[in-house]
Amino acid sequence: MDLKGRNFLTLKDFTPEEITYLLDLSAELKEKKKKGIPVDKYRGMNVALIFEKTSTRTRCSFEVAAHDMGMGTTYLDPSGSQIGKKESIEDTARVLGRMFDGIEYRGFGQEIVEELAKYAGVPVWNGLTNEYHPTQMLADMLTIREHFGHLKGIKLVYMGDARYNMGNSLMIACAKLGMHFVACTSKNYFPNEELVETCKGYAKETGATITLTEDIESGTKDADVICTDVWVSMGEPDEVWEERIRELSPYKVTKKVMENAGEQAIFLHCLPAFHDLKTKIGKQIHDKFGLDDMEVTDEVFESPQSKVFDEAENRMHTIKAVMVATLGERE
Ligand code: CP
Ligand code: NVA
Repeated sequence: MDLKGRNFLTLKDFTPEEITYLLDLSAELKEKKKKGIPVDKYRGMNVALIFEKTSTRTRCSFEVAAHDMGMGTTYLDPSGSQIGKKESIEDTARVLGRMFDGIEYRGFGQEIVEELAKYAGVPVWNGLTNEYHPTQMLADMLTIREHFGHLKGIKLVYMGDARYNMGNSLMIACAKLGMHFVACTSKNYFPNEELVETCKGYAKETGATITLTEDIESGTKDADVICTDVWVSMGEPDEVWEERIRELSPYKVTKKVMENAGEQAIFLHCLPAFHDLKTKIGKQIHDKFGLDDMEVTDEVFESPQSKVFDEAENRMHTIKAVMVATLGERE
């Protein structure tokens, strides 16, 4: 499989075979890292990491992976460059494309990362947009595959805001990989119809199914994986908190939800998560709305069924695979 020179903007652009190849490569790179076998033939190469929104996992994954590979990195923080203020994306792309071998971009609309890719002339990797979070998908799928040994036929239920990057991307990943995707949430938070139709098209080819339901009992019954994400994403205005809490509170991942799914079920969350009062935002929400948690209870988050830290670790191995594949494999 040759993905050299390809962008990584959304899983919509990749075939099931290409996604499986990236997962296999991730597993191989993970094993090599654990055994101390270096994959560092990329010396002399450099990657730019543009973050217009904040990050812990994605930034660290790109940096650690790049350094493991022998590459240099330049981090452009949400305020420290000319991008979008004094310089267009098109010009930025043409400048960075002259200096770097690959560019990661995290920001707002998907059209921005598409524009960057159009003009950069080097691989561009989407580190999260409002619409998609494709590198997270590889980590989630690798974590599920490590746990169950396969992906086809797995029932994955997403609870919460299914119209945003995580809900959209999980639906695409499941449809491409022959899994059973359920968005179990208020109908106002179902993924948009056009994307649902696109994914149903993929599903026809792979044996996947797509279900949208407000019913928690049937939606989560016998699920293999229960996923959620924050109810208010980066870049959204504070005004939406009240409505989100009202609409999405019934879809919090609780012990009862996990019990309904069954003891085989695992819990995944891309993180960061609001499950206790140890954060500044958590305390603010507590003071304003009286909540001790939001999308998931601390009990579920800290339970043996929760695989969120395996998932977080897998961000690094999978991001390394994306860079190795698109920059070209080097023995
Ligand atoms: N899951 C994820 O993308 O985390 P960060 O926002 O910390 O990068
Ligand atoms: N939906 C979240 C994901 C964070 C990794 C956000 O966009 O803020």
